[in-house]
Amino acid sequence: MAPTKKIAPSILAADFAYLADEVAKVAPEADLLHVDVMDGHFVPNISIGAPVVKCLRPATDLYLDCHLMIENPGDFLDDFAKAGADSCTVHVELGDPRPLFDRMRAHGMRVGLVLNPDTPLDAVVPFLTEIDILLFMSVHPGFGGQAFIPEVLDKVRAARAIVDERALAVELEIDGGINLETAPLAAAAGADILVAGSAVFGASDTAAAARAIRDVAWGV
Ligand code: DX5
Ligand code: ZN
Repeated sequence: MAPTKKIAPSILAADFAYLADEVAKVAPEADLLHVDVMDGHFVPNISIGAPVVKCLRPATDLYLDCHLMIENPGDFLDDFAKAGADSCTVHVELGDPRPLFDRMRAHGMRVGLVLNPDTPLDAVVPFLTEIDILLFMSVHPGFGGQAFIPEVLDKVRAARAIVDERALAVELEIDGGINLETAPLAAAAGADILVAGSAVFGASDTAAAARAIRDVAWGV
């Protein structure tokens, strides 16, 4: 059964001074809200953490999709769960993610696993039966506004084939450089969830921008 296709605006590109307003404006065309958490160690940039998720939680009903670009996610899963995260997505490059999965499940969060552009698909295949979301980085993590890396589409296609063949309940999500040109490529490769930061929050009408991405990707 194919999961529903979804758009996930990334608040990294929003105006943090008006975050609740930014979220409310995009909400009619958003399925999830992508929250980029960066620690200045795993990636060379610092963004936001669980306190912001805690403030967002009462401000929106949207699913909060927390992408943890941090060296020690295990130290913060409790905080994200308590703050109201719907899922946390951890990087496979950090080593065995299973203990983190167990902690996320214990908190009732959905489980995400993410791989960088240079990480082979083989690194995540052993975990496909244990996760809800597989996130493909289509830029090197750390910054919004980078150019899409098209080679990542081969991995998305290969994952789509595995997930379909084994009828796994894993959503395929792609993050980085998604815009009106790249969204159709990602959708055609089999992505279920498109994350878009600059292409949404850089537009004057953010909801229309999200809608336009959905239209070009899936024609709906
Ligand atoms: C990059 C982040 C992305 C980022 C995407 O490290 O994981 O979620 O917000 O931004 P755009 O859509 O501008 O590439
Ligand atoms: Zn992200």
